[in-house]
Amino acid sequence: MKNQIAQFCEQIQQAVEQKSLVKVSLGNYQGNEPALKNIYIRLVLIKNIEKLAFTFRYKTKDIVKNFDLAEGYKSIAEWLEEGFKVATLMSTESDWQYEALKNGKVILKQKTASVIAKPSLEHDKEKKRLIKPTEKAYLVDLKITDEQGNVFKNAQDKYRQINHYVEILSSLIKDSAIENLHKVVDMGSGKGYLTFALYDYLHNTLGLKTQVQGVEYRQDMVDLCNQFAQNAGFDGLSFTQGTILDYEQKDISMLIALHACDTATDDAIYKGLQSSAELIVVAPCCHKQIRREIEKNKAQNELKFLTKYGIFLERQAEMVTDGIRALILEYFGYKTKVFEFISDAHTPKNVLVVGIKSGINPKRQEEILQEIAQTKAYFGIDYHHLERLTQLSK
Ligand SMILES: C[S@@+](CC[C@H](N)C(=O)[O-])C[C@H]1O[C@@H](n2cnc3c(N)ncnc32)[C@H](O)[C@@H]1O
Repeated sequence: MKNQIAQFCEQIQQAVEQKSLVKVSLGNYQGNEPALKNIYIRLVLIKNIEKLAFTFRYKTKDIVKNFDLAEGYKSIAEWLEEGFKVATLMSTESDWQYEALKNGKVILKQKTASVIAKPSLEHDKEKKRLIKPTEKAYLVDLKITDEQGNVFKNAQDKYRQINHYVEILSSLIKDSAIENLHKVVDMGSGKGYLTFALYDYLHNTLGLKTQVQGVEYRQDMVDLCNQFAQNAGFDGLSFTQGTILDYEQKDISMLIALHACDTATDDAIYKGLQSSAELIVVAPCCHKQIRREIEKNKAQNELKFLTKYGIFLERQAEMVTDGIRALILEYFGYKTKVFEFISDAHTPKNVLVVGIKSGINPKRQEEILQEIAQTKAYFGIDYHHLERLTQLSK
């Protein structure tokens, strides 16, 4: 089987090099990834670099990830070894059909090309974007588009990011059991790019009457965003000046916080927990509190060969901080997901921690407390900010 997989991947590589690749599809999945059905792979150009764009099609959502070419070929081979039984390579030169049969035989066949038009390497998602660029006062105010709805060249990345966030939030909303999305709060809303786009999607695409609020301590941003909301006629969207921790209302159904610095993300999660929000979605940024703890206490563990390097220490602080956040969410009855939501070519702050309210499990709570205690001891952490806010530790 390995031999045919290697040959299949060589054909893909050749098609990429000849610029004849149309697409690769992997199907008949029998592996362990829950709800995964297919993977579709295309060649795309991102900032003039060729990448393989993988669309992972799950039962209820699609996730797109871009890989460097070598990494992409390797990944295709691994997915074929680990569970996809059928694969098709379509190129303008010829098609290739790979099939692993039940009796262990593997077939690799070359066929006549079914598509002869040269594929475009452009990111062609424009037509499928949830946030269309035309006739949106807020996109003009935010300097993403001109009055005619043309996305400015220097705002292409931002526009794609906004759409990507909304796509992710849209599938999280659909996957969760939220019945009444009456209020969304965006903590540390900044200039409000996502807040506006989410409001637009909820009201104008889903037809909901959700109240959306941004919380931000910079008065200038709050004033600007309130002005833009008024210009757009978004009656249910408002921005409030204040700190996240001072936010008193406890009727949030979905809480988001994107790149709220350091412990501001903990404050945001805490507010979500206090409200028993159905959905808590945070993209953390800078993990100084835990990094300081690790550096201060210098716990002696097997990882010191890594953490003597600043960059690894930073990554470790990030994983430990967000890992404990996920555990605390789980403790309070949230099903958790942690995933990369945007290519690190756009921003290194690309991890999303998601909590979907599901129900408390007392047995699991005991285990979680132990897991947190052990983790803290191992890494030399006296406290984690969210743990303190939620009074899981003094
Ligand atoms: C990096 S910006 C992100 C803005 C926006 N969420 C986005 O992703 O475009 C972080 C914003 O959070 C605000 N912020 C940070 N800590 C905060 C706190 N504790 N309370 C209120 N706002 C806060 C900052 O003023 C800043 O505008």
